[in-house]
Amino acid sequence: MKNVIVGQSGGPTAVINSSLLGVYKTARDRGADIVYGMVHGVKGLLDGDIVNLSESLKNDIDMDLLKRTPSSFLGSCRYKLPDIDGNEKTYDKIFAKLEELEIYAFFYIGGNDSMDTIMRLTDYAKRIKSPVKFIGVPKTIDNDLAITDHTPGFGSAAKYIAATTKEIIRDGLVYDYPVVSVIEVMGRNAGWLTAATALAKGEDCEGVDLIYLPEVVFDVDKFIADVGVMLKQNRSVVIAVSEGVKVADGRYVCELAEHVDYVDAFGHKQLAGTARYLAGRVAANYGVKTRAIELSSLQRCASHIQARVDVTEAYNVGGAAVKAAFEGLSGQVITLKRVSDDPYMCITEPADVHLIANVEKKVPVEWITEDGTGVKPELTHYIFPLIQAEIAPLWVEGLPRHIKLGFTKTK
Ligand code: F6P
Repeated sequence: MKNVIVGQSGGPTAVINSSLLGVYKTARDRGADIVYGMVHGVKGLLDGDIVNLSESLKNDIDMDLLKRTPSSFLGSCRYKLPDIDGNEKTYDKIFAKLEELEIYAFFYIGGNDSMDTIMRLTDYAKRIKSPVKFIGVPKTIDNDLAITDHTPGFGSAAKYIAATTKEIIRDGLVYDYPVVSVIEVMGRNAGWLTAATALAKGEDCEGVDLIYLPEVVFDVDKFIADVGVMLKQNRSVVIAVSEGVKVADGRYVCELAEHVDYVDAFGHKQLAGTARYLAGRVAANYGVKTRAIELSSLQRCASHIQARVDVTEAYNVGGAAVKAAFEGLSGQVITLKRVSDDPYMCITEPADVHLIANVEKKVPVEWITEDGTGVKPELTHYIFPLIQAEIAPLWVEGLPRHIKLGFTKTK
């Protein structure tokens, strides 16, 4: 009996379900009997909230829809497993459940916090000599995972952000009076996604005027002065700012306006309000019309504009995870290695989870302009291949069709 179990964890992406499909199909092709899904990640496993994925994925249409469905099909969690020492009961409960379900391999689709779960379970399996294999499948729109060239989910979010930025730039030019638009982009402490706004610039688009990444300390007075210079040159000023920009004393810019109470299990503060705060400061200083545009969840759930490269790679890392486990590996994360830029090509490669869990990969400072208000061509060249090609939604009555959770709990 070779059963496997898969879960999704952390913030969703537009292609996270392609990775789920990659795990599901490859496991079935390689002879797995049952592919279980954890509902809401490892939290669901602990609570006994488990489903048999075959009940939902009955035919090719279901699988085609799954690829095109945003958010995490199985539901997600931001659940941090406790330190092993002193919490053995929690781990024993998980391993008892895995034994009861006769699990050969455990796959977790997530970012650097979720890889902490794979790392801890790997370490405990070693301690109790459990044969279960643990493999991480990378995903995050933030693109902040170590070792891998990039993360599945980033390309589609970058495509949405670049396309939307082009539209915002056009809209900003509509009137004959000044408008300052501030676009707030996700990505926490890494500026990869904010940098994607630079892709908007081209022969049909002027591009954004100022870009602020969290890798550079943010100075509100300098920002106001930068905007003033731009307002002298342009009628419309479009600014991209990361949700994670921080001032010199370590506070997030969004905290300058209001106190942030919400902190998740991994200690991450909820970041929102940066654009609103900065647009307010610009309006107060220059008396011009401003817009604060928070892309928020739109940028990570826009499955109607998935990048085909991203969909394919998301599927491939899921498949490679199963291959690795079935070849006997454990404690690994599947990474993408860029082997060629032209033509663009990535291969998959397993890497030790201990080198990836909880590590944040930031934008290298050499890829940011010296004045801290733009990005260099090296950065746009790196992102461009990842947003290429499209995959059309399955349109029904004028709207993209999605697949809904259609299973009953088995345990
Ligand atoms: O980790 C991905 C991400 O989308 C970040 O870019 C963002 O800061 C965070 O998740 C938002 O998390 P939540 O969905 O828990 O508010």
